Amino acid sequence: MDLHQKITELKKKKNAVILAHYYQVPEIQEVADYVGDSLGLSQKAAETDAEIIVFAGVHFMAETAKILNPSKKVLLPDLMAGCSLADSCPADVFQKLVEAHPDHVVITYVNCSAEVKALSDIICTSSNAEKIVNSVPKDVPIIFAPDKNLGKYIQKKTGRKMLLWDGACIVHEAFSMDKLLKLYKENPGSKIIAHPESESHILETATYVGSTAGMIDYVKKHPTEKFIVATEAGILHKMQQEVPQAILIPAPAEEDNTCACSECAFMKMNTLQKLYDCLLNESPQIEVSEEIRKKAILPIERMLELSK
Ligand code: 13P
Ligand code: SF4
Repeated sequence: MDLHQKITELKKKKNAVILAHYYQVPEIQEVADYVGDSLGLSQKAAETDAEIIVFAGVHFMAETAKILNPSKKVLLPDLMAGCSLADSCPADVFQKLVEAHPDHVVITYVNCSAEVKALSDIICTSSNAEKIVNSVPKDVPIIFAPDKNLGKYIQKKTGRKMLLWDGACIVHEAFSMDKLLKLYKENPGSKIIAHPESESHILETATYVGSTAGMIDYVKKHPTEKFIVATEAGILHKMQQEVPQAILIPAPAEEDNTCACSECAFMKMNTLQKLYDCLLNESPQIEVSEEIRKKAILPIERMLELSK
């Protein structure tokens, strides 16, 4: 039996569900029960009745699943699979900012630790950030953390001035404007689509800006066109499956001379072998203290309610 088959049998035997993000390697996406963006994954985690959740993504995603499912085992194939954006917002420093602005509503992007979620009023993802910000009355000031690029983009879309945390994703900040324009010239008529974690100058060139799921949906609406895709290259697997005729070109990163794509080293720490091992050994598990969990679940539930 190959690993794929072994994982499929084991997950049936153990009543486990495998949730995977679009940035995972293709073989993990293929064995998953559900592949999605951060919002879709949290919604699936909230509604599953499986006893074990194997989260093929990064730590904050698995942690969100654990906050929603305290009595279930939540496994992450590699505990070192972190996120530069989540790391850019340490809870103790963030707490000082929140305490210094008691009149502000705290909206936090899901790419953050459980401790930061516990300090927040509402969580958002890239697919619902605009809606969440618009749900706050116009006269109430907002702190938006940790992604300054998504924050700036939402400020522009909503016209709301927000106090932005100075965090960013290393993968999305690596796209090169010069190389992108060169590629666009070489591919006249192509459409640039971008994830809002990218810098403003990249977003300004894009015909569509949205979450990973939003980008796939957009491409599905134009199945025979050519796209330059400015997000992590793992998305190309599912995107190409959905639109076999579309031409998909990964946006180039500044330092990348070997291939044209950008990869998240954290997302790529998970492998099919590690996924099998973690399901077999039911380890490594995600743990969240009850004190933090009770606080962190409130802003996540507010997001899920507002996203229905
Ligand atoms: P999505 O919610 O758009 O999938 O984004 C997750 C992420 O980490 C992007 O870098
Ligand atoms: Fe974090 Fe960026 Fe990787 Fe997404 S792509 S998990 S934001 S480091």
